[in-house]
Amino acid sequence: MEQSIESYIKNLVRDVIGQSIGGLQLQSDRQTYVIANWKMNKNLNETAEFFQKINSSPDVSVVICPPAQLLYPSHLMIKQSGKPIGLGGQNVHWADKGAYTGETSAAMLTDVGCEYVIIGHSERRQYSFEDDELVNKKVLHAIKFGLTPIICIGETLGQKNAMQTEQVLYKQLCGALKDIDSSHFILAYEPVWAIGTGQSATTELAQETHAYIRSVLKQILGQRSENISILYGGSANESNAAEYSAMPDIDGVLVGGASLDAKVFDAIINVFAKGEQNS
Ligand code: PGA
Repeated sequence: MEQSIESYIKNLVRDVIGQSIGGLQLQSDRQTYVIANWKMNKNLNETAEFFQKINSSPDVSVVICPPAQLLYPSHLMIKQSGKPIGLGGQNVHWADKGAYTGETSAAMLTDVGCEYVIIGHSERRQYSFEDDELVNKKVLHAIKFGLTPIICIGETLGQKNAMQTEQVLYKQLCGALKDIDSSHFILAYEPVWAIGTGQSATTELAQETHAYIRSVLKQILGQRSENISILYGGSANESNAAEYSAMPDIDGVLVGGASLDAKVFDAIINVFAKGEQNS
C-alpha cells in the first residue's frame, strides 16, 4: 500500500540518520509536528468544514486524529484537498485480529489511511485503566504494522506536588518502550493537570521536563534518541504556541481543545512553521 511504503522509507531514513556512519555522527534532524487530538468531538459535516478551512505547511508535519468513525471520511477529504496532512487514530488494540468487540487493530487503521496512532493518552489511562504494560503492547503492535505511535506520558497534579514527576515519567517511558528496537515513534509530554484545564505548563517547566525525557530516551536508545520528536500537550493554543516553539527540546504540540477550530489550529501551525523557517 502506497502509504506504508512512504512511512517505511520515512522510518528508514530516520533510523539511518540516528546511526553513526563510518564513525561520523550525523546531526539530528527532528521533525516538527502539530497534531490535533479531536477526542470524542465532531460529526461528518463539521469534519468536512474543518478540512475545507485548514491549511498545511511544508515546514511542519500536520496530523489530525479524529474519532474512529471519522477516520475514513477524513482520509478521503484529505486526499481530495491535496494538502499534505497526516491522519492518526486515537487508540489501537494490541492484537492482530479476533474476538475483541469494539476494538480496532493497527491493520484496520492503516487500511483507512492512518499513519499515526495516539497511545497511552491520560484519558485512556484514567477512564479505561490502561497501564504501562498495555501501552507497551499497543506500541509494539502499532510499530509492527508500520504506524507511528504518538506515545503520551505525564504526571498528575498529585504526583507533581509530591515532586514525583521525573520518577513517574521514567517509569512510563521504560514501560512504554520495553523491547523497542525502533525509533519510529513520537513522544508527547502531557502533564495531566494541564490537559483541558487552561493551566498550560510554563515554557521553562516544559523545556526542563522535555530535556529530562530526552536524557532518559538517550539511556534507552542511545544516539537514535536525538531524532525522536518530543511534543508538548496540555492547553496548548495559539497564544502560547510561540513560546513553546522557541524551546530547543519542544518539537511541536499535541493539541486537544484548540484543534477543534480550524482557524485556531491554523494559527498554531503557522507559529511552528515560522519557528522552523527562522531556525
Ligand atoms: P488540551 O488536550 O489541548 O485540550 O489540553 C490535549 C490532549 O489531551 O491531547
